[in-house]
Amino acid sequence: MNRDQKFFDMYSLVIGVLAIIALVIFVGVMKLSDLTQGVYTADTTEYQAAVADRIRPLGQVYMPGEEAAAGDPVVSQAPATEPVATVLSGPQVYNEACIACHGSGVGGAPVISDPAAWETRIAQGTDTLYQHAIEGYTGQFGYMPPKGARLDLSDDEVKGAVDFMVSEAGN
Ligand code: HEC
Repeated sequence: MNRDQKFFDMYSLVIGVLAIIALVIFVGVMKLSDLTQGVYTADTTEYQAAVADRIRPLGQVYMPGEEAAAGDPVVSQAPATEPVATVLSGPQVYNEACIACHGSGVGGAPVISDPAAWETRIAQGTDTLYQHAIEGYTGQFGYMPPKGARLDLSDDEVKGAVDFMVSEAGN
């Protein structure tokens, strides 16, 4: 056997072994990917769905009038909020803002339960009573502050309190 022949034999052997190793690695990797990523073999619907989910846009734009697609989290009804009583009734306003003076006659205020004290006042007409209660008024008995010094009250709330006082005074 000459030296060339010997080299050629060795060379073929090494190439052959390397080819076998490469084949083993290739087959092994194929098997491994089958085991670990079976679902993600291309062309299955699961695979398509997984890709579509990964590349879907973060948000979507709906033009006015367009319906949001089904499945989106849409709040169909806003949670009912407790109605807040913003307008006080006549008696409520009286109890909060007027009773301090008109309950007992402080500072010359006509007492709510004293019809005689109200007779001439009511004779002036309701509009005058409203005006004096809202804008304030100084008469011969004392000083009635505007809105009973509760300027946060609306005109209508004060009028309600006047109506209540007038009705309590016996008319
Ligand atoms: C700080 C005390 C005080 C408070 C608070 C007060 N009043 Fe008076 N009010 C008076 C006095 C004093 C008079 C009488 C003034 C006079 O005739 O000399 C009066 C008179 C009135 C009159 C009669 C006005 C007229 O033309 O004769 C009305 C109506 C009235 N008050 C409504 C109210 C209402 C409504 C409230 C609450 C929102 C209220 N008052 C709170 C002191 C008060």
